Amino acid sequence: MIVVFGSTGNVGRHVVTGLVAAGERVRAFTRDPARARFDESVEVVAGDLRDPGTVLAALTGADGVYVATSPDALAHELAVAAALRRSGAGRVVKLSSVAANAPVTDSYGAAHAAAENAFMDSGAEWTVLRPAGYMSNVLQWRSSITSQGRVYQPYGKVRRAVIDPEDVAAVAVACLTTAGHHGKAYQLTGPEALTAPQQTARVSVALGRPLEFVDVDPEQARNGMIRAGMPPELVDGLLSSMADPGPLRGGTPQSTVRQITGRPPATFDSWLARHLTELHG
Ligand SMILES: NC(=O)c1ccc[n+]([C@@H]2O[C@H](COP(=O)([O-])OP(=O)(O)OC[C@H]3O[C@@H](n4cnc5c(N)ncnc54)[C@H](OP(=O)(O)O)[C@@H]3O)[C@@H](O)[C@H]2O)c1
Repeated sequence: MIVVFGSTGNVGRHVVTGLVAAGERVRAFTRDPARARFDESVEVVAGDLRDPGTVLAALTGADGVYVATSPDALAHELAVAAALRRSGAGRVVKLSSVAANAPVTDSYGAAHAAAENAFMDSGAEWTVLRPAGYMSNVLQWRSSITSQGRVYQPYGKVRRAVIDPEDVAAVAVACLTTAGHHGKAYQLTGPEALTAPQQTARVSVALGRPLEFVDVDPEQARNGMIRAGMPPELVDGLLSSMADPGPLRGGTPQSTVRQITGRPPATFDSWLARHLTELHG
């Protein structure tokens, strides 16, 4: 039995599908089972990562665990690691970020690194996945694309080898179902490094309408994210990660997805073709 925390997330929902396809028994943990849409073989359990009792109960009989949660929720992950120490589940895959690659330079990476350490000390066979930015982050542009034909983002010159969340999930499934991944921290990227203006140009072609990229001043972006309700410390960490063009932060394509899954990572154009309707107003 493999328990999936973050089962409804960008990556987690594909982890559930992939594990089912691999013939695994899956227990999907969510705060709202009514909204979860999974194969009928999946055991959906209601729980909250802020409630350690529900976490421990979900681990009953588990021999594998996948963990992802909201980016500002270190306490959630520490709770799962603590429950794992008590329950003794076999394998754990923790979804982390390239921001956790050493040297860690911001609060976002530091929180992921602290969670990674907790799983490394949990007694389980651990693997951590450190993906670059998701291709699906482009969906956050939908509203300004629809209303203004514009994309607003800071650090437009920074190239990022963005990754399809389904590829991250495919790696997670391989790590949970095959041997040889214990003690590994995998840096995961897509196949090409693109700037946000380049992504905007591809979206423009796919949608068949002109789009303008606006390189937002980072301070303005910071204020907007805080106004939208994000914790200031998380905002500062995320912006600092976004500003870093180096290979350690996902600026250079890696071969890890192909090595682990046996197939190349999806291109941005392929992701776009599959998600175009979600970008239409
Ligand atoms: N976006 C990026 O570009 C990017 C890149 C690299 C790494 N990451 C990392 O990816 C992780 C997020 O993964 P994701 O994008 O797959 O997830 P997501 O789409 O952000 O969804 C969050 C998941 O966490 C669950 N969750 C949140 N609070 C919970 C709570 N109190 N109790 C139970 N479940 C809770 C949600 O479940 P329910 O709502 O169903 O309860 C949902 O399944 C973060 O750690 C982020 O730092 C993101």
